[in-house]
Amino acid sequence: MSLDFTFETTPRILCQTGAAASLASLCVELGATHTLLITDPGLEKAGLLADTLAGFASAGQAVTVFTDVQADPPQQVIEQAAEAARQAGADLIIGFGGGSSMDTAKLVALLVGCPQSLPDIYGVGLAKGPRLPLIQVPTTAGTGSEVTPISIVTTPTHEKKGVVSPLLYPDIAVLDATLTTGLPPAVTAATGIDAMVHAIEAYTSRIRKNPVSDGLATKALELLTANMDTVIADGGNLAARAAMLQGSLLAGMAFANAPVGAVHALAYPLGGHFHVPHGLSNALVLCPVLAFNKPAAEPLYAELAAAVLPDQTFASDSEAADAFIAFLSAMVARMPFAHTLREVGVTEADLPRLAEDAMKQQRLLVNNPREVSEADALAIYRAIL
Ligand SMILES: NC(=O)c1ccc[n+]([C@@H]2O[C@H](COP(=O)([O-])OP(=O)(O)OC[C@H]3O[C@@H](n4cnc5c(N)ncnc54)[C@H](O)[C@@H]3O)[C@@H](O)[C@H]2O)c1
Ligand SMILES: [Fe+2]
Repeated sequence: MSLDFTFETTPRILCQTGAAASLASLCVELGATHTLLITDPGLEKAGLLADTLAGFASAGQAVTVFTDVQADPPQQVIEQAAEAARQAGADLIIGFGGGSSMDTAKLVALLVGCPQSLPDIYGVGLAKGPRLPLIQVPTTAGTGSEVTPISIVTTPTHEKKGVVSPLLYPDIAVLDATLTTGLPPAVTAATGIDAMVHAIEAYTSRIRKNPVSDGLATKALELLTANMDTVIADGGNLAARAAMLQGSLLAGMAFANAPVGAVHALAYPLGGHFHVPHGLSNALVLCPVLAFNKPAAEPLYAELAAAVLPDQTFASDSEAADAFIAFLSAMVARMPFAHTLREVGVTEADLPRLAEDAMKQQRLLVNNPREVSEADALAIYRAIL
């Protein structure tokens, strides 16, 4: 682990049951006169906006709702949302939803006030700003996007590209677990595994791993693994939902500072080409990547085994790392979603293109504890076909 590190996160985190009803007062506090709330049609249909919009009405605050976010947000939808913000004269943006809505909101807050176009800012540290005030409200647990400086976009050529900039940290993250009690089991499972992967990959990140991200990642993994089965069996369990949301938050804070690796690099081509939801893409490749990484990450996986299996003792790091991988394999296997690439529409003939695309994610692969070649990526995809 490096002796020197920096750590950044969202400056204000409000974790409060029922907080969605008082979002309008936060907007007033940030000086807004007209808010654009960015979300997707599923959330509107689920009635999740009602309390928030009632709060705006009773505060006499102007709000426009953009409900056209699509999963794995395509570039043109983000540009449309930015245009909607300009048309409305918005001076504050709320991202309300899963990672897709929050990632869209981040970029809208940036694009509205700055002369750069979206393709200009793909990459690390290219955005110049300024950006509008921004509040993020996650409704999945999840991406942790409310505490990351990252936004992931699907380009017109079906590539997943990231914008990474400290300007993308929101002013406030609002965690209200009541918003997540109706999340269907398959989405709960996929997004929960995504959050676990953030914690695991932050903990084993080769370059920027540090003591703060380690503490956050371990606590995140404890919360997430201890509550996952409960939220699948009993989605209305508010305490377990709150623990998942907090686990997702902590994992997000960790990987924002100790970035993710090969699980995400191999997951992205599945989202880009086959529209496999982000969490499910991660879940599919997770266990073969952990097994592949074991020779390089064994002591770290052994430390994570101690965090998630506190009652067990192990004769060696190797045994503990195996137990950690087996624990996660069993967890993934009992989740209510697809478990093979064929089930999500991938065929043998698609595998070389997936492996080739995974190699383009060098931003992530450099963080992986073990070097991954194109042949390695191909073998991993083949193992889960
Ligand atoms: N910025 C980051 O740091 C970061 C990290 C990981 C992933 N991502 C990105 O986030 C996106 C994935 O986000 P996601 O996994 O949260 O899914 P999502 O935002 O795409 O939402 C998935 C589905 O769940 C529904 N949904 C969300 N919350 C709900 C609720 N409370 N009740 C009922 N339905 C609900 C939505 O309507 C949608 O249909 C991808 O684009 C991925 O690349 C970003
Ligand atoms: Fe992720």
